[in-house]
Amino acid sequence: MHNKLVIVGTQWGDEGKGKIVDLLTEQYDTVVRFQGGHNAGHTLVINGEKTVLHLIPSGILRPQVQCLIGNGVVVSLSALLEELDTLHQQGIETAGRLHISSACSVIFPYHIALDQARENALGKQAIGTTGRGIGPCYEDKVARRGIRLHEILDEAHFSQRLREVMDYQNAILQHCYHQQPLEYQPVLDEALGQIERLQPLLTDVPSRLHHLSQNGQRILFEGAQGALLDVDHGTYPYVTSSNTLAGSAANGSGVGPCAIDYVLGIVKAYTTRVGSGPFPTELNDAVGQHLGVQGHEFGATTGRKRRCGWLDLVALKRSLQLNSVTGLCITKLDVLDGLETLKLCVGYRLNGERIATPPIDGQQLAACVPEYMELPGWQTTTAGITHYAALPSAARDYLEQIATLCDTPIAIVSTGPDRAETIINDVAFSVSGALST
Ligand code: GDP
Ligand code: IMO
Ligand code: MG
Repeated sequence: MHNKLVIVGTQWGDEGKGKIVDLLTEQYDTVVRFQGGHNAGHTLVINGEKTVLHLIPSGILRPQVQCLIGNGVVVSLSALLEELDTLHQQGIETAGRLHISSACSVIFPYHIALDQARENALGKQAIGTTGRGIGPCYEDKVARRGIRLHEILDEAHFSQRLREVMDYQNAILQHCYHQQPLEYQPVLDEALGQIERLQPLLTDVPSRLHHLSQNGQRILFEGAQGALLDVDHGTYPYVTSSNTLAGSAANGSGVGPCAIDYVLGIVKAYTTRVGSGPFPTELNDAVGQHLGVQGHEFGATTGRKRRCGWLDLVALKRSLQLNSVTGLCITKLDVLDGLETLKLCVGYRLNGERIATPPIDGQQLAACVPEYMELPGWQTTTAGITHYAALPSAARDYLEQIATLCDTPIAIVSTGPDRAETIINDVAFSVSGALST
């Protein structure tokens, strides 16, 4: 058991982080989101019942668990209230269990208008954002003009700040994007109405984390998106607008970097990407189609079709370095069932030369031709298997090849969407006393 565990995506998001956070939360007292916003879509399936979370940490289905939203998260008041209402309708009690940093930057309707106007203006070069206003909100934060949750509590101050920011953003909407300006009064009234419900949830997250730590409580930090979407280290500019790496667990919640004990990197057994940008191992063929169909690869937030391809170990190794990944969790192994041959990308060729690390320049990355190692597939099903030894030997070989080539142990293997469809391969993660090797 690790006292402070960070769970991050190592690819382009949707690796199955939500499932694993929910599973491991059995052992944790608190789950913290530290970056991103409601661009995330984390799917939890418990006894066949599906819940998709966007902003609220994936520990919320466990009644004894505290859920914190750290300062690094951008918060849409409407999205948060909607998500809370949905949970309450499902009979999930959140009172006294969800706490939000008052230092979070707020997503307002003009951020959404700007996000969509920019995407439209980019035409074919559009990033394919989720259209949730994430990028414009982070821009405001870094430009030091953003409005944080605590500011809305002071009505006179907020009214003035909102007026200034809206004058500025409306000018951009009108003059750069030829859009209608947004009316000030409805934005003001809506936010003042919403903050009334949210005020009791606002808190000082760093102090809370400090006290929890001092009392020996176990804390799980839940990443959103994935390393290849990181604003600095990802496939820029086809990235999200936050740092998605494990280091952000510290900055985005208010603990120091030495607080972290273990970084679990979630790796889909193949690769998917939603939106535009380079993807060297993408398969525009029947195998790509097969992965999309078998894996139900449609976005949990926007419903868009995800692009599919082979597992890219060149990109993965870089992600493991960037995150200091201690151990791997391989998800969606069952989706590979029945394929005759599997491929692992073990190198790239750029202009005829072999390279072992991904180029930083996105155009160069797009020009890279993957080099593959081929492995035999397996013809029996792995779906729902909970014991490593019960996997077909070709599936074990595939996993072991990944662990060897990445020089990182596999702690968990996921064989289905349900919480129970999991192989625990490392005693430190044994939930409900199970260790399934
Ligand atoms: P996240 O954003 O990383 O939390 O991942 P998403 O929830 O967006 O996407 C992962 C999808 O795969 C969801 O529909 C999950 O229910 C599903 N899933 C997770 N693990 C497995 C698995 O091992 N096998 C299969 N078949 N589906 C899985
Ligand atoms: P989870 O947490 C997959 C992608 C978008 C787009 C790019 C920028 O569920 O893994 P944004 O709206 O963030 O400005 O969009 O990032 N993206 C994701 N892709 N999973 C996610 O989250 C994503 N969040 C953003 O598709 O390409
Ligand atoms: Mg997702």
